[in-house]
Amino acid sequence: MQQFYQKNDYYKVEGRKQTLKEEQLCSLLSSMSLKEKIGQLIQLSGDFFSTANLSIGPIKKLGISPEFVKLAGSTLNVVGFENIKRVQDKQMEVQPHHIPMLFMSDVIYGYKTIFPIPLGFSSSWNPDLVEKAFECAADEASASGVQVAFAPMIDVVRDARWGRVLESLGEDPFLTSIFAKSMVEGLQKNLPCKKGLVACFKHFAAYGAVEGGREYNSVDLSLSNLFQNYLPPYKAAVESGAKMAMTSLTTLNGVPSTADKWLLTDILRKKWGFNGVIISDYASIQEIIKHGFAEDNEDAAFKSLSAGVDIDMKSPVYASGLEKLITNRKLDIKKVDSAVFRVLRLKNDLGLFENPYFGASTTREKTSLLTPQKRELSRSLAEESMVLLKNENNALPLNNKEKMVLIGPYADNHALNGMWAIHSSKKDTISIHQGIKRFVADIPTEKGTDLRRDSKFLENLGFLSEQEIKNMVSSEEENRNNLMKAIKISQKADTIILALGEETYEAGEAGSKTKLELPKNQIHLIDELSKLRKKIILIIIAGRPLALENIIDKVDAILYCWFPGSEGGNAIANILFGFKNPSGRLTMSYPRVSAQEPLYYNHLSTGRPQNSSKGRFVSKYIDSPADPLYPFGYGLSYGFVNYTELKTDKYVFTKDSTINVTVKLKNSSDFDTTEVVQLYIHDKVAEVVQPVQRLIDFKKVKLKRGQELTIHFNISSSQLTFFDNRGNEKLEPGVFDIICGTNGKQLLTTTIRLK
Ligand code: NOJ
Repeated sequence: MQQFYQKNDYYKVEGRKQTLKEEQLCSLLSSMSLKEKIGQLIQLSGDFFSTANLSIGPIKKLGISPEFVKLAGSTLNVVGFENIKRVQDKQMEVQPHHIPMLFMSDVIYGYKTIFPIPLGFSSSWNPDLVEKAFECAADEASASGVQVAFAPMIDVVRDARWGRVLESLGEDPFLTSIFAKSMVEGLQKNLPCKKGLVACFKHFAAYGAVEGGREYNSVDLSLSNLFQNYLPPYKAAVESGAKMAMTSLTTLNGVPSTADKWLLTDILRKKWGFNGVIISDYASIQEIIKHGFAEDNEDAAFKSLSAGVDIDMKSPVYASGLEKLITNRKLDIKKVDSAVFRVLRLKNDLGLFENPYFGASTTREKTSLLTPQKRELSRSLAEESMVLLKNENNALPLNNKEKMVLIGPYADNHALNGMWAIHSSKKDTISIHQGIKRFVADIPTEKGTDLRRDSKFLENLGFLSEQEIKNMVSSEEENRNNLMKAIKISQKADTIILALGEETYEAGEAGSKTKLELPKNQIHLIDELSKLRKKIILIIIAGRPLALENIIDKVDAILYCWFPGSEGGNAIANILFGFKNPSGRLTMSYPRVSAQEPLYYNHLSTGRPQNSSKGRFVSKYIDSPADPLYPFGYGLSYGFVNYTELKTDKYVFTKDSTINVTVKLKNSSDFDTTEVVQLYIHDKVAEVVQPVQRLIDFKKVKLKRGQELTIHFNISSSQLTFFDNRGNEKLEPGVFDIICGTNGKQLLTTTIRLK
């Protein structure tokens, strides 16, 4: 490496420990050729740097010249110190100014130590713990050479058919914004000591509102809906200092987000002051041609760069289009320069000009991955994320004197990490069986059935080989035997712990589906076991809300565990045996049946609300209730808390004052417990009709058994604003309901008036 330092003027900075000064960056920029500049705006995947003969393989497939591969300024999903060093050394050697590359990766909810999926994060209602989890993920990934995380994903979602709800924080914009801040801060906290990661929030904007939950589909939103419900988390990420943003693969109101100047420049850069690097999503620049928004690569390059996209992720468009645009004077070189400058500045901010390997070293890799402390953090977050949906007759916690069996395709299965844990290994994950064995050493265990018995469905997931599918789907006879073995051991038991759920690739990117019910073979297993009239504790492993109406009456308790990560099995066992009290609360509404989607709590008031009359002509379905099976904010604990005396210190207030809200809580159960106190408003009359309920604050508190507690909230007028259909934020005088309570159901209401 020393030789490059000597070749490169830009390393000859006094003391070499300093970052470059702004003038030095500018002079570096002005000495670069147009091709070199364009190279900085190109991101390629790792396969481009592992092929010895550059003119074959990925290059041909993508249609990019070997010259631009040499000049590429960043890469994605190359990890591990040795790999990074190899690629970095090679690139720096061949590039005329020996500029270091940026290494970016999908570190979505952990690197080697896997945390629960983000939908589980938000269900913990514990942003401090999530911040620690991201700090920990950043520590691990930076040890392996990653510099930028393609995270947090902060798309608000309202439709569980969309597979990527797994990566989201659920349906509420306020809650998603709180977590956006904690995730950005957690990732970037230790950047100065090279143990952090640059946060690249995504997918700007409103990818979560794809029509019908169909992947990569169109988004069509009124401006008031966009500004009020979808944009706040991205704004929170900008305000928290995120250094990068990723565009969305979708169109928003007819314009691809990757070429939307209004979105990227007018809103993100000018209105919100975002000064960082904007990267496209994977091939999304080239896809604007397919969308019908650009004619060819040159047109796509012009439109995306002019809109504000700095880096082209894995498409040939900037490589093939920008040079011509500049030489033909169709595009002002200043636009390219600004984009390149932002990329160089980020590299310089990270100190890559002095240490191109950032925080990576073999020693750090040996000492900081999957440490006991990191596992403990993962376990705590998993425990806090799990939601107890049903607990009839206090079926849980279990008493280890009960005679128990463990049944189901997830009973002894290490695949608890979910789709986006791409750098982890299943062998590092604790299965449910392993977790339970700590409490019941010799628990009889049977699979009962496969996760899925439909080979066509498994093939459609697109990730599994023919052989893998063969191994996953047992023959008819084997399946019958599996069921019989499960029934046989269950007959001798008092309690059946039944672990079911979704296959890893059923949720996540490209995991949209129309049926949210458990598959038939799993339902059949529940049916057969329920005939035995034993206590059944259902554990669900899944990446999205499932429609559970058809099975809830057949089981005594349901613990919803998400994909719980590396310590999943231990976390589940700790809750089952009462070592931990479940405190998770849902952040997405649970449908009774799939066809209720999209389903969300903060919907607008209608002229004929479903409960307004018994007649036919109200907003409802004729074959199913319109309300969710389990609402937003719902979740049980082993304790129970009563709410009384919701009060405000005044009825009328002005826009410069605040209102103090109090509510009394009493833990009238025999358990110490944790409660998530949720505060909502309803703006009764406004220029744009407002949601029936909107979360504006919450507190997660612990109560000893028998303890009483008064909870205080302050409401200021800034929490009562809304957005009109031009995207303007407004505050209107009038009456607001203040709603507070637990379980999204048992709510108290009072009113206030803003003068
Ligand atoms: C496509 C996904 O939409 C995005 O979230 C991800 O970061 C990139 N691929 C890179 O893997």
